[in-house]
Amino acid sequence: MGMLGFMYRQKTAHPAPVPFHDLSGQTVLVTGANVGIGMEATRQLMGFKVARVIMAVRTPAKGEEAKAQLLKTNPTCDVQVWPLDMDSFDSVIAFGQRAQQLDRLDLVLLNAGLKKQAFEQNNATGHETTIQVNHLATSLLSLLLLPPLRQTAAKYRKPSRMTLTASEVHMWATFKEKSAPNIIKEMDDKTTWAYPERYNLSKLLNVLWARELASKVSKDQVIINTVNPGLVKSSLHRENTNAAEQKFTAFFGWTPEEGGRTLVNASVAQGPGTHGRYMSECKPTAESPFVRSPEGSQIQKKLWNQTIETLQEDTHTTLTGYV
Ligand SMILES: NC(=O)c1ccc[n+]([C@@H]2O[C@H](COP(=O)([O-])OP(=O)(O)OC[C@H]3O[C@@H](n4cnc5c(N)ncnc54)[C@H](OP(=O)(O)O)[C@@H]3O)[C@@H](O)[C@H]2O)c1
Repeated sequence: MGMLGFMYRQKTAHPAPVPFHDLSGQTVLVTGANVGIGMEATRQLMGFKVARVIMAVRTPAKGEEAKAQLLKTNPTCDVQVWPLDMDSFDSVIAFGQRAQQLDRLDLVLLNAGLKKQAFEQNNATGHETTIQVNHLATSLLSLLLLPPLRQTAAKYRKPSRMTLTASEVHMWATFKEKSAPNIIKEMDDKTTWAYPERYNLSKLLNVLWARELASKVSKDQVIINTVNPGLVKSSLHRENTNAAEQKFTAFFGWTPEEGGRTLVNASVAQGPGTHGRYMSECKPTAESPFVRSPEGSQIQKKLWNQTIETLQEDTHTTLTGYV
């Protein structure tokens, strides 16, 4: 999709509120729930009568502040703030193990993400920060949360849901690293980093990962999809000091409430036909030509294998039993 089409749709395709769905008794888990699109999606899900919300947040104080705001409109919901620092695999694993103890987990929004303006390397893992958070930690979580999602599906005889927040910008990634012997190691190298390519690429990796994950998980157990929330005025752009880009976002950006609607649509209003699909403007939409090409399918598998290998090496855990 070209830039003109993108600008046109930002101005004309504002997502509508998702009609009421009764989610009574259900537990939902949202990463990056303290602000922006994640917080607004959480608010909308609470309006659907969910029993319990787990807000996965990097800074618990920010989570508590957001929780207080959210409870103003839905005071009876059991809202729990759980710490999750996606810069740390130990934190991701502790979070996943805690979630595996839940008696019920119906819906997961893997939404947390960041957009760096410069190369930054994670001290603990050695990975470039965008890839660490947006791809590696998100992918690890997607595996760790499968057991409670599947158990819930079996118990209530209906599929659970997992939606990853991707982006239309996945179509703009050039992905030069795809031919490297090891894609993840290549992206750790500072010389490969570029703005906004690295962020765009991280969103392409979300799309590829979710497609491969969905191919390994039955849609009768967990419906897995990705969503483009549109360009949204949020703190994702907090580091951006480019005046032209700031003006562009201010003019074309949707509100976080509108962005939140796209997540709720993808995870609540859409059916099993969206398993493995990419959602944009609240409907299944063609992914980039690269994703749909034979080369894309081959790289999707390579990325899957190298991501699993990296995560296993870095966390000293075995991930083969999850899919
Ligand atoms: N806004 C857009 O235009 C746009 C467009 C397409 C896709 N998206 C995607 O939408 C998702 C939500 O973004 P947003 O626009 O709502 O941005 P946002 O307001 O900045 O929210 C991002 C959330 O991710 C959390 N997060 C970042 N790094 C983390 C880490 N290391 N560990 C745990 N949590 C972390 C943030 O926590 P803190 O508050 O503590 O930093 C925050 O809660 C992201 O995946 C983004 O890529 C956004």
